[in-house]
Amino acid sequence: MAMPWRGVIAEYRDRLPVSDATPVVTLLEGGTPLVRSEALSEETGCDVYLKYEGTNPTGSFKDRGMTVAVSRAREEGAKAVVCASTGNTSASAAAYAARAGLTCAVLVPRGGVALGKLAQTLVAGARVLEVEGGFDGALVVTRELAEAHPVTLVNSVNPDRLEGQKSLAFEVCDVLGRAPDCHLVPVGNAGNITSHWMGYREYHDDEVVEGIPALFGFQAEGAAPIVRGRPVEHPETVASAIRIGNPASWERAVAAAGESGGDILAVSDRDILAAYGRVAAEGLFAEPASAASVAGLLFLSTSGRIRRGATVVCVLTGHGLKDPQVAIDRAARPRAVPADAAAVAAELGL
Ligand code: F0G
Repeated sequence: MAMPWRGVIAEYRDRLPVSDATPVVTLLEGGTPLVRSEALSEETGCDVYLKYEGTNPTGSFKDRGMTVAVSRAREEGAKAVVCASTGNTSASAAAYAARAGLTCAVLVPRGGVALGKLAQTLVAGARVLEVEGGFDGALVVTRELAEAHPVTLVNSVNPDRLEGQKSLAFEVCDVLGRAPDCHLVPVGNAGNITSHWMGYREYHDDEVVEGIPALFGFQAEGAAPIVRGRPVEHPETVASAIRIGNPASWERAVAAAGESGGDILAVSDRDILAAYGRVAAEGLFAEPASAASVAGLLFLSTSGRIRRGATVVCVLTGHGLKDPQVAIDRAARPRAVPADAAAVAAELGL
């Protein structure tokens, strides 16, 4: 009988900052599907895999880091956790705090959080405060709050978050039986690309796998501070998850891309939405920010920057249901028909 997946901490305990004394707070996160994309493989001449993080308990990769951050917070006797968020970190923090019996407060940009994420955060019982301005200002306030008060910050500036998130790289290698040649990921606050590099390097240094991938990060054109080389004061993109103008892990992301032989590049909203449609057409419903990795793959492929035959992983970071509005706005309205088989058949052209 197949062993059931036991969650990130139990599966990778030796590689995480936990001990027998750590009270493990888990919702059995991780173990997400690595789905081969026939269509993208054919189009690019690469062997393309989509790492679908939408199947995590709260529907995004954040759960990988949150299980470690909240377990460690409990170990240290914390009573409350706080974060700033474009929505997914808050949904994850709220769920893991609820599980752990901790209070959770989140600061989100006013009007900047997709509906599904707000619903998740509220239903788990977190205090949600909407702040004026964007994510970057909210993160500054949250950091100040955590310095002055006895609350644990669970943004990706918390090292335990990055430790947990590196498990994605382990899983990719474990499933492929090797490291991919290229690993593509959307970039917002830049924690994820930093953590994936940590994970790949660790497996390589410990000789679990021989190779190490080139890491490519993709920002949205209207929210591309790293690509432009300066903070963006009013970041704008349809991909609200990565609407960030001054990423906390900026330098580490640049180092990860540089050391690995990759790059950090920008993709337009138009290309993000086209890629969003492409992924959905393969049966995987991912949120707009997630599609930045696939938009990036198509860009690298058409500009000849990716070798044919390369094994490529694109991370789909969050579930499409988190942002239903974008899906509805792009789709044709359902048509009203009478409850009559002949009328339905005529409508369908059968
Ligand atoms: N994709 C999704 C779906 C995200 O929610 C985020 C970040 C990213 C990509 C970028 O990851 O920040 O590590 O570079 N969301 C954060 C949040 C900012 O608050 O939920 P990153």
